[in-house]
Amino acid sequence: MSTAGERDRVLSGMRPTGRLHLGHYHGVLKNWARLQNEYDSFFFVADWHALTTHYEDPEIMAANVWDMVIDWLAAGIDPDRATLFIQSRIPHHAELHLLLSMVTPLGWLERVPSFKDQQKRLKDRNLATYGFLGYPLLQSADILMYRASWVPVGEDQVPHVELTREIARRFNHIFGKDAEFEEKAEQAVTQLGKQAARSFRAARQSWLQNGDETARQGARELLEAGRNLGAEEKERLLGYLEGGGRTILTEPEALLTRDSKLSGLDGQKMSKSYNNTINMRDDPDRVAGAIRTMPTDPARKRRNDPGDPDKCPVWDLHQIYTEDTVREQLAAGCRSAGIGCLDCKRPLIDAVMEEQVALHERARPYEEDPGQVRAIIDEGCARAEAVAAETLREVRDVVGTVYS
Ligand code: TRP
Ligand code: SF4
Repeated sequence: MSTAGERDRVLSGMRPTGRLHLGHYHGVLKNWARLQNEYDSFFFVADWHALTTHYEDPEIMAANVWDMVIDWLAAGIDPDRATLFIQSRIPHHAELHLLLSMVTPLGWLERVPSFKDQQKRLKDRNLATYGFLGYPLLQSADILMYRASWVPVGEDQVPHVELTREIARRFNHIFGKDAEFEEKAEQAVTQLGKQAARSFRAARQSWLQNGDETARQGARELLEAGRNLGAEEKERLLGYLEGGGRTILTEPEALLTRDSKLSGLDGQKMSKSYNNTINMRDDPDRVAGAIRTMPTDPARKRRNDPGDPDKCPVWDLHQIYTEDTVREQLAAGCRSAGIGCLDCKRPLIDAVMEEQVALHERARPYEEDPGQVRAIIDEGCARAEAVAAETLREVRDVVGTVYS
């Protein structure tokens, strides 16, 4: 596409840990399909990220990678618009991850909320590993590799994008500063006065080594209070504190994807771990049956009991599948017990089935000819690799691993 070079780039990845369900479809994939029309979009299978948590069952990747790509295609991700690839096919990610690790303070990784959260949540897996600690840094490498401006992710991933920004800043600071930067910065520190200079140095160290957010804030305040500092010195010291220098790596921004709070078949949030999903290409009979027996407002025990849609998991599905006017009628019928739950579910079942038919139909050519999917990924990998190689060329140069 002739304008591709001028458009901002979007990048996102997905771990191939299971079949995709309607939560993925309505939450993530439809959003990707929209973004591909506006941005130079890169979407990839984060198989190494899956391995950080699932290294004891490596077979899940082979089992899910191709089906996941087919689900993307069925959702309308268009390989002519977006670049689709597999992380492990581009080993450059590993090299960039390694080089970034040289300048990543351990504390920055240890304080990423998902590190401790996931260790607690996935108790049956040993996640006290080097690879798992590095999970968000590998993600930073994914993002920085393609100089992505925007990273569509759910709320839980925002701290990873934030870390990526800090890594980029630190990298640029260390490898992109002019020769006298450090000297000039140290000189400016002394202008704060003895006491404040000491506090500033300590706070800066605490931030850079341990990721101590309070210390960083304290250091900023010292700069604000420093009355002997000119604007230029203040700027320099802020750079000294935060990182920053010539832009080698671009700071990305998270593009928050609203968490689709789609209810699963048992009324809890739809999730593979609850075993309550409707998958994107599911068995039609199973789906119809499962929605029919889905729990509703517990107050509606009998047909004559009035109900409250807001207390009913089926209602979440109606938000997605049913147009406003029909939904209003159904809500009124529920509250007055004018309709039964099966009446309410019928149009929903129809809508979900219709969607299933469309998804199956769009997937069929790829299911029938897997070679086509392989070719799409081959082409995407080639495109991705060209960009990655260019970034690494520059990165190797500034970190000093180019010998002629
Ligand atoms: N960690 C992301 C998730 O679990 C997947 C991912 C890996 C990703 N690398 C990425 C997302 C880069 C966005 C950008 O959802
Ligand atoms: Fe839920 Fe519809 Fe039954 Fe009301 S009528 S409880 S909204 S399924």
